[in-house]
Amino acid sequence: MTPAAGGLTRRTRFLQALGIGPVWVQRDTVVSDDVPLPVAIAVPAAPPVAGVAAPVVSKQDKAVSAWDDASVPVRAAAAAAPILVMPADEGAVAIARMSWQELELAVASCTRCPLCRNRKQAVLGAGDQKPGWLFVGEGPGHVEDQQGEPFVGPAGKLLDNMLLALELPRGENNYLANAVKCRPVGADGKDRPPSVDESAACRPYLERQIALLQPAVIVALGKVAALSLLGGDPKIAVAALREHTHRYGSIPVVVTYHPAYLLRKPLDKAKSWRDLCLATQAYASDGKLAV
Ligand code: URA
Repeated sequence: MTPAAGGLTRRTRFLQALGIGPVWVQRDTVVSDDVPLPVAIAVPAAPPVAGVAAPVVSKQDKAVSAWDDASVPVRAAAAAAPILVMPADEGAVAIARMSWQELELAVASCTRCPLCRNRKQAVLGAGDQKPGWLFVGEGPGHVEDQQGEPFVGPAGKLLDNMLLALELPRGENNYLANAVKCRPVGADGKDRPPSVDESAACRPYLERQIALLQPAVIVALGKVAALSLLGGDPKIAVAALREHTHRYGSIPVVVTYHPAYLLRKPLDKAKSWRDLCLATQAYASDGKLAV
């Protein structure tokens, strides 16, 4: 990474703009005291479920730090909890074979769940179709529904800064997707998180996207994305899923807070940065591209 004028890297400047630090430094140069190194451990695997990759977790070897409020055994048990799956349906089987073009057409005219009734347009996702990084959010909001692009509202602006802190300009070596492709609207007309059923109905599209994208690492932004990718107990908190490298098939998955949550709780940005550092390590160890 080339230090910019004044000795600060671009990433450091974006981190400072976000109000977070310290900066993660590659392990073979300097090891930062407060960023634990990941070490794989054996965790009981979830029982295999047809058509769904069992989540696998690795655990960091350092003691649970001060900002960590969830115990390791709870988190390991959560990762092994039963997976939410839709019964296989003909539509899902067809989706699993689609090309990008077919997927775009299918999502644009999808009626697999009631969210289709209120959408202006479905939002499949956007970015590099051969990305190292895949970021998965929960679903389009009002602005995304209007514009047909993921993460273009206020949460998207923060996500852009998080990407820049990773030296990932939007769309370069990264793809942005959501657990659901149509905007969930509450009875009050406001954005709301998708229900478990809505996420399950949309999951075949996300699965197909991942199969086509083959990212080196997936970052799950928030609980909806994490559950959609990994399954588990819908009551689990994001805090219980952080700090582990989970797996979607063979692809490492790191769970962090949704940027909309971080806008409400800016103090948690530092935790999110740690999560992104963990994702960077998973990405680097994939060997697809060195950091
Ligand atoms: N929030 C999300 O999860 N996804 C978007 O695309 C926009 C906001």
